[in-house]
Amino acid sequence: MDRTAFEKRIKRRVSGREHDFFIVCSPGLETVCRSEMLTARFPQNNLKLIDGGIEFKGRISDCAAMNLNLRSPSRILFRIGRFKADSFEKLEKKIRAIDFALFLPENCTLNFSVTARKSRLYHSDAIAERCEAIILNQMESMAAFTADKASAQTVYIRADRDEFHISLDSTGDLLFKRGIKEKVTPAPLRENLAFAMLFRAGFSTTDILIDPMCGSGTFSLEAAMIKAGIPPGLFRSFAFESWPSFSPKAFAHLKKQAEENRVKLSEKQIFASDIDHQAVAVMQQNMANHDFCQTIDLCQKDFFSIDPAVICPGKKGVIMLNPPYGKRLEEKNGAKTLYREIEKKLLSDFKGWRLGLILPLKEALPNPLLKLRWKPVFHGGLNIFTGIGTI
Ligand SMILES: C[S@@+](CC[C@H](N)C(=O)[O-])C[C@H]1O[C@@H](n2cnc3c(N)ncnc32)[C@H](O)[C@@H]1O
Repeated sequence: MDRTAFEKRIKRRVSGREHDFFIVCSPGLETVCRSEMLTARFPQNNLKLIDGGIEFKGRISDCAAMNLNLRSPSRILFRIGRFKADSFEKLEKKIRAIDFALFLPENCTLNFSVTARKSRLYHSDAIAERCEAIILNQMESMAAFTADKASAQTVYIRADRDEFHISLDSTGDLLFKRGIKEKVTPAPLRENLAFAMLFRAGFSTTDILIDPMCGSGTFSLEAAMIKAGIPPGLFRSFAFESWPSFSPKAFAHLKKQAEENRVKLSEKQIFASDIDHQAVAVMQQNMANHDFCQTIDLCQKDFFSIDPAVICPGKKGVIMLNPPYGKRLEEKNGAKTLYREIEKKLLSDFKGWRLGLILPLKEALPNPLLKLRWKPVFHGGLNIFTGIGTI
């Protein structure tokens, strides 16, 4: 088949029609993601919230736009096959029936992520091996129409009660990686969680933010991107960019529009600080790389010496706090004392401010003085608690 015929087939079978996608979210962030999609006016057809994410029907171009613009998810999967199989023979037959040439970049390195639950086929390595052999065989006979640079593609295989879902990862590096932070300090927050907390606290483009334990600056950088209207994916690349169905022209247009809509920030509206000079140096470098120095005010300071009436006289906004976790402090009781002192400081100097607070456990703050709405979130391998409320 010649190139034109292949491109027509891609259009007919892939880019020109709707498919099923799954937006993977960290447990606890699914509802934020749905609200984010509503706010961003993404097509609402067939959205279905389930544990761990959101299913939707859309085009490859919707998948690209969501990767570029959504702040809360972890990744987006493109579902290319769904079938029942309770033996390797049936699995292999169904995998052979999928035309991988339509979806996979030529010369890509394949990775597999397999999970099987309550299924006759349960050995994930064996499932991956059988599928890989078939896909590689198909790829050997593919024509060289697609990306010439070597790329990696992860194939997700999920079996639940013998029902298989075959998906391709459209994202690549997890979406919390915005391509902004060159360096991080210990225990950095993920950007999708920072966003979820800002979102739940009602942070808007006109709000002031105080980030007094900024570390490498996740809250401040996320807030600066929101204020400037910069899509979270503008400075990074995605796995779908090497798919045969990818349209570089259309995606470049989306990014160009975003660049043109970038709001020039000239006022200091974000106040970041940390007690540790190394953290301040890391944050300084991270914000300078993307021209955020006009809007982020950064200094080395102890949180307990901050007076918001001096920083932004007559104004109230949002304060986000991600204190050191217990395990990083000398002892757990030291952590409890620190959290109690933080509460007292907030109550004395930040009355009327909206607050986001992260704790390793709700019990780390027994008999809390602040009434916050708590939500458990799974973050970087740990179960943590995020509290939101007005002081
Ligand atoms: C868990 S880290 C914050 C990580 C940050 N959110 C990020 O994404 O990189 C906690 C930070 O609190 C800072 N810190 C601890 N005690 C402080 C205090 N009394 N005043 C200001 N910063 C403090 C530490 O230096 C550390 O950078």
